[in-house]
Amino acid sequence: MRAKMQRNALDRAVDHIRGVFPARPEIALVLGSGLGPLADRIEGPRIPYGDIPGFPVSTAPGHAGRLCLGQLFGRTVVAMQGRVHMYEGYSPAEVVFPTRVMAALGARTAVFTNAAGGIGAGYSVGELVLIEDHLSLAMAAGMDPTRGPQDDAPGPRFTSLNKAYDPELLALAERLEPGLKRAVYAHNVGPSFEPPALIRFFAAMGCGLVGMSTVPEVIAARQAGQRVLALSAVTNIAVADVSDAHVTNEDEVWEAVKIAQPRLLSLMERLIPALPKDMT
Ligand code: HPA
Repeated sequence: MRAKMQRNALDRAVDHIRGVFPARPEIALVLGSGLGPLADRIEGPRIPYGDIPGFPVSTAPGHAGRLCLGQLFGRTVVAMQGRVHMYEGYSPAEVVFPTRVMAALGARTAVFTNAAGGIGAGYSVGELVLIEDHLSLAMAAGMDPTRGPQDDAPGPRFTSLNKAYDPELLALAERLEPGLKRAVYAHNVGPSFEPPALIRFFAAMGCGLVGMSTVPEVIAARQAGQRVLALSAVTNIAVADVSDAHVTNEDEVWEAVKIAQPRLLSLMERLIPALPKDMT
């Protein structure tokens, strides 16, 4: 019964989108905080999330909230200009509904972007960093979006997260942009920024980035069998010490994404055409 409900919800969203744009997108793109302008380069229709049956609507600042479909740098893509987050009050399953819809549309590769804090002195503001693994206390504690009664519509019961961040795609990005760093992304549901003690915990666990998104979507993308590439724009350096005078704030995030935007555009201009073509 529940499985059927999921299938119906996915089908309704897919039918609506195909009614506007019938072609199969090869690549799904998720553009995070302030990184949406890349989607303005897509030649094709835009659908506000509110028009798509079952789609959650983003309430976060810097998230336009529309699905953009069409040609980008020679490939057919579907892009989320803005995402939704668990901190907006959405359940993990609601957060990943758009990811599942994009997989159901036929996109076999998913590229996720986000704004993140850098952990430690090794990062500069505005830098792009590849995600090679993640650590999420929320997912480990029961907020995994694939949790629930067995339902084959979104994918199999158990999803391996070993090599969730596709080694071939990581190597491709590094070939195109030598010097790109890789890091483990620590997930904090938010919306409060991490207390210094949590940053020290993440640092001790080997994490280099911290943010409030991406992990639930990557899990759902892997469950759906997509190949995943994810990258963060470092928008601030996370505070790890209570004696640090710096107070993490939203304004520094918005200033830094302006530096990261042209870098992301330049990387995507080279990366998107080079992404592996589907077998079919
Ligand atoms: N923490 C969590 N999320 C973020 C940060 C941060 O420091 N910067 C941008 N998004």
